[in-house]
Amino acid sequence: MSVFQSKINRNSESYQRNLALMKEKIVELEAKQKEALFQGEEKYLARTKRAGRLLARERIEMLLDVDSPFMEMCPFAGWGMDGFGTGGTVVAGIGFVSGRMCMLNSNVGTIKGGAIDYATLQKGLRIGEIATENRLPMINMVESAGANLPDQAKIFNYGGANFRGITQRSQLGIPTISIVFGSSTAGGAYIPGMSDYVIMVKNEAKVFLAGPPLVKMATNEVTDEESLGGAKMHSTISGVSDYMAEDEMDGIRLAREIVSNLKAEIGNQNAKEVEEPIYSTEEILGVVSADVRIPFDQRELITRIVDGSQLSEFKLAFGSTLITGYAKINGYQIGILANNGVLFPDAANKGAHFIQLCNQNNTPLLFLQNITGFMVGKKYEEEGIIKHGAKLINAVSNSTVPAITIITGASYGAGNYAMCGRAYKPRFLFTYPQSKIAVMGPDQLAGVMQTIGRQAAEKSGITYDEEQGKAMSAYMVKEADKQSNAWYASGQLWDDGVIDPRETRNYLKLCMTAIHNTSFEGAKGFGVFRM
Ligand code: COA
Repeated sequence: MSVFQSKINRNSESYQRNLALMKEKIVELEAKQKEALFQGEEKYLARTKRAGRLLARERIEMLLDVDSPFMEMCPFAGWGMDGFGTGGTVVAGIGFVSGRMCMLNSNVGTIKGGAIDYATLQKGLRIGEIATENRLPMINMVESAGANLPDQAKIFNYGGANFRGITQRSQLGIPTISIVFGSSTAGGAYIPGMSDYVIMVKNEAKVFLAGPPLVKMATNEVTDEESLGGAKMHSTISGVSDYMAEDEMDGIRLAREIVSNLKAEIGNQNAKEVEEPIYSTEEILGVVSADVRIPFDQRELITRIVDGSQLSEFKLAFGSTLITGYAKINGYQIGILANNGVLFPDAANKGAHFIQLCNQNNTPLLFLQNITGFMVGKKYEEEGIIKHGAKLINAVSNSTVPAITIITGASYGAGNYAMCGRAYKPRFLFTYPQSKIAVMGPDQLAGVMQTIGRQAAEKSGITYDEEQGKAMSAYMVKEADKQSNAWYASGQLWDDGVIDPRETRNYLKLCMTAIHNTSFEGAKGFGVFRM
């Protein structure tokens, strides 16, 4: 292990210019974070308060241990989509309850009655996946009108996976606890219905397959909400509820009590002696390029996020556009792969080799993506860049140690795949606010399309309209840029959240603790490596 000696000059004009541009990105991030805090129109908030009830985020605050962090997951889901807005109608994240790391999932009943739009459904499925992979007990705070009815066609089929997830986690010994705070109809009734433990709050919880109006239509029976599905009926007659809470705070207390009785996981969540980085995390904003077209040395970032700024580099002088090496985060060993330029054949081979080593060594992986893709051109095709890239993709695909990916700049082309992008199932994936994800850069994309257009015109004997081509190209640059920015990506759930780069170490610390909640074993074999 050795400390990477930072070479940045904090007084240089380029550092200061970059810092100023990154600070603008942080202002943008903070504005979006504020947007994601929205919990509904004033009339609904006031009504909830008047009734002495808690809002979705307050329930989370009350449930968490006093000193617990809260790593919010997918807070920007739905940004830019048609639907109920940034974050959807659920607040979710990881924190500690009765000393145990849990996934918390709180319906925002004050937006559209907590009805589930498309983004909220996708977010719910991702939250379930994270809970399963990291063996985190799930605590649902239920107050939801079920499917967003005008949009039911988009939600109904995939929505079933939420219930499947609850029972599959249960089979794996990962419990789900539901505290029902409000109305929970139809599909919503199956959330408590499938849970291992159910708490219903007296006079608030209403759980039924169909509410009184539908019952009247279906069977002509006349009934009221409380006798059809109130907490008292379910706790004393139907048995759908296991605990009846006197009020919301009592419901939260009961959930904390249930968690305190769960058997301990095999993992090691004990705090270790941890050395902080020797360089300031504040400097990360000056280090990471605000413009993804300008390269930066990712060692400058690594040295600001790993324990004691210590990195033991593997093949330091070989395949230099990919940094590989061992470090520690929160006392846990990690194998880091970080791009420092385009991937050449030697860098791809080095990456595949290092991933195999980490699997042999049972060491989780951290990918720091800043990649414009694999090197192109005749020379590299002759060298077999395709098969070398394929080896790296093979290693990433078949690796069985947990991985975390952070997109620190560009994430273009097959580079996204080879560096463990979304489709390669890292346990957690975060992006920086200036990052870009796409098949290629907007200028390149527009340029390729213009060349294809010109060639097609020539083949058909038509004169290519240069003016129209230019206008089309400008439009494409704009569109491609819009669809590759971090907000669009986060809105589509291509990541688990856009983060302030200065917070990277804090996120990684929690992710490492979550990962070590599970046992894992490196891959015993890989697919065929083309030589
Ligand atoms: N889909 C879409 N929007 C819904 C909705 C649903 N399932 N349920 C409620 N909403 C909307 C309402 O249209 C209203 O929208 P607005 O703020 O734009 O006016 C908002 O949520 C609040 O609804 P409201 O009925 O005024 O609130 P409430 O607190 O009196 O009642 C419920 C809340 C959930 C009890 C009630 O709305 C209800 O019974 N909804 C239908 C539940 C259902 O049958 N779901 C089946 C799902 S499969």
